[in-house]
This record gives sequence, structure tokens and C-alpha cells, in this order.
Amino acid sequence: MPTTKSVPAVALFDKCRGFTRAREAQAAGLYPYFTPITAAEDTVVTIHGKPKVMMGSNNYLGLTHHPKVLEAAQAALHKYGSGCTGSRFLNGNLDLHEELEARLREFLGKEACLVFSTGYQANLGLVTGLIDHGEVAYLDKLDHASIVDGAMMSRAEVVRFNHGDLAGLDKKLQSDDRPKGAMIIVDGIFSMEGDVADLPKLVPLAKKHGAALAVDDAHSIGVLGPTGAGTAEHFGLTDQVDLIVGTFSKSLASIGGFVAGDEYVIHYLKHHARPLIFTAALPASNTAGVLAALEILRSEPERRAALWANTKRLADGLKGLGFDIGPSTTPIIPILIGPLDKTLVVWRHLFDAGVFTNPVVPPAVPPSQCRLRASVMATHTAEQVDFALEAFAALGKSAGVI
Ligand SMILES: Cc1ncc(COP(=O)(O)O)c(C=O)c1O
Repeated sequence: MPTTKSVPAVALFDKCRGFTRAREAQAAGLYPYFTPITAAEDTVVTIHGKPKVMMGSNNYLGLTHHPKVLEAAQAALHKYGSGCTGSRFLNGNLDLHEELEARLREFLGKEACLVFSTGYQANLGLVTGLIDHGEVAYLDKLDHASIVDGAMMSRAEVVRFNHGDLAGLDKKLQSDDRPKGAMIIVDGIFSMEGDVADLPKLVPLAKKHGAALAVDDAHSIGVLGPTGAGTAEHFGLTDQVDLIVGTFSKSLASIGGFVAGDEYVIHYLKHHARPLIFTAALPASNTAGVLAALEILRSEPERRAALWANTKRLADGLKGLGFDIGPSTTPIIPILIGPLDKTLVVWRHLFDAGVFTNPVVPPAVPPSQCRLRASVMATHTAEQVDFALEAFAALGKSAGVI
């Protein structure tokens, strides 16, 4: 008979045993995370056997199911196999990655581009690859977590300024005016508020202080600008913004990311960005899918027009119903609810009514400013937008939100 020894409890796991919040929400039917989608057809997904109108996706142009994107991905899967099984630095670099970089730099109007395996890694790579000990990263307080994480991982000094407070940023840059490397990094479209970075003010500010300016266009590629090239193009400032970061997980309907800028800066990043060097390359099927999606993005501007028409329909409808959508002017539409418990109740009502939205709760926002985040797609029909609005109208009254 084997003897059973008493094993001392691992103190490290005490916090795991004590973590009950998520289980309590699950028991109350108010847990909105990790919901398994069993089928997805563009604007409609199936969850627990029931259809939901997807109002929480970043698939802005509705390209995830486009036949040309699927065909390109399938062909590449068969030609190159299911994975690159190594870093781009070594055995994982494909001609497709380089073709995508060439297409992106031409599309964005930049000299060079570097493709990463996710948008998150693109930001990590940019910040940790470029900013080092003795240098400073200036971050808007609402910048995406990947920028914040990159800044924390770098050995640089990190300075946060209040969201959109460029006078405050100016003062911080002023008080720091020493000859050292500095980079200001902002989201192009802020992912929680849906507002747009004020590049016409940021560009001269960066120049005045000799700082580099980087814009994370994760939510702006395919959305802003006359050709969909993002925030810098939207303001006619492409040659004034030093670095543009983007992701393939939104308008470009896949996964992956990039950093674009001057050739010598990108060349440096290529040899210093650890989140590029020490991870496996983007699979061929994704890369080919992004190439196809980029082609459609460029050749079908009517998709962008439809996205903006749907954005206006939903935003006007919500405002007309009395909801507070904050400063949003883009397809990201936050619907401010208030406290956490009320937000989860409202989310659940909408979900049961057949509308999928994303709740945004602390620590992403302050405790009193919980919200639902709706995102619009080019391929939503007017009927789907109106269906969502009807669900909002019904619950807004019953839950006392409007
Ligand atoms: C502003 C912003 N930057 C970067 C990312 C990271 O991109 P990905 O999800 O493609 O890794 C996201 C994703 O949510 C984002 O919203």
C-alpha cells in the first residue's frame, strides 16, 4: 500500500483559491466572458444554439468570411503548411511576409514595414525595441494595454498624461527637456472611448520637443482616411507621424500586426524587437488572408462608406433613445451605464434579446463608469442595427438606464 504523505499547501495558490468573483458572477448568470461561439457568419453568431447579432466585433469591414480571403488563406495553407514553426529571424520568414510588408508600406505611405505575429506584439516590439534605459515613453492614460505593457517591459522612464490633455503633455515634455530619446505614443482611435487622437496638435508638440510620435492605428486601418490608411491619412499628416502601428485582427480580418516608418528605424527594430525575434512567425494562411483583405479594403471603398452609414445609424439611434455614448465619433460606440452590477444586468438583457455587446468594467474603466461597448460593421444590415436599437430601447427603460 502506498503511503499518503501530507503535502504542505502552496502559498502561491492562496490567491487562486480566494478568487471567487468570477464564479459568483457565473452562478448569478451574469458572467460575460469566454462565451463559446459555435458558428459565425459575419454579423450573426451562434451561442448556446441561438443566433445573436454580433455588435461586439472588430471585424469592421466584414471581411472574415469574404470568399477571396478564405480562398487565399486556404491556398497558402496547402502551399506552406499549417505553421512557420520558428521565428522570422531564423527559419520562419516567408516571401508572403515580405510581400505583405511591401503592400502595407505602399498603402500607408511609409518607407518600410515590419510584420509581427500579433498587434499586441507589434506594440511590445515597438516600445521595447526602440526605447531604452535613460529614454522616455509618453503615454496617454487611455492607451491600449499592449503599449502600457511594452513601456513597463522596456527599461525606459514612463510618463502618463491624462487622456487627450495635450497642454499637460506639453508641460511634462517641457519639464523633461533634456537631450534624450523620447517617444509619444497614442491610440489613433481609442478603443474604450471611440474618440480620435488629435494629431494636428500632437505633431507640432512632438516636433517642438524633439520627440518621436507613434500612433497605434489598430482600430483606424480600414476605418479612417480617404483610402482607409488610418488616422495620419485622415488628418493629411502621413509624413509627419514617425511610426504607425496596426493590427490584422480588426479590419484585416485575421491576426498579426505591423509597425511602419522610416527604413533605418524599421531596420533597427528588425534586429532589436524581442517580441519579433523570440516568437514564431505569422502562419502563411493568415498572411495570405491579410493580403487578400488588404486588396479588398483598397478596391471596395463602398465598404467603408457602409461602415460609416451604420455607425451614424446606431450612434444617432442610441442618442435619440437618451443613451450617453460619450465622446465617440467612430464605429466604437461605448454606452455608459454606471456601476458594475447594473452594467452586467443590462448586458445580459441584451444578450438574451439576441444582441452581443462587450461589457467594459474595472480595471479598464473607473468603477462608476462601466459601459457596454458596441462596434459596428460594414456588413450589418439596417434591419440588424434597428433590431439592436429596439433591444436597447426595451431594456433602457426596464433597467432604468434612460
Ligand atoms: C488599440 C489596440 N492596440 C493593439 C491591440 C492588440 O491587437 P491584437 O489583438 O491584434 O493583438 C488592440 C486589440 O485589442 C487594440 O485595441
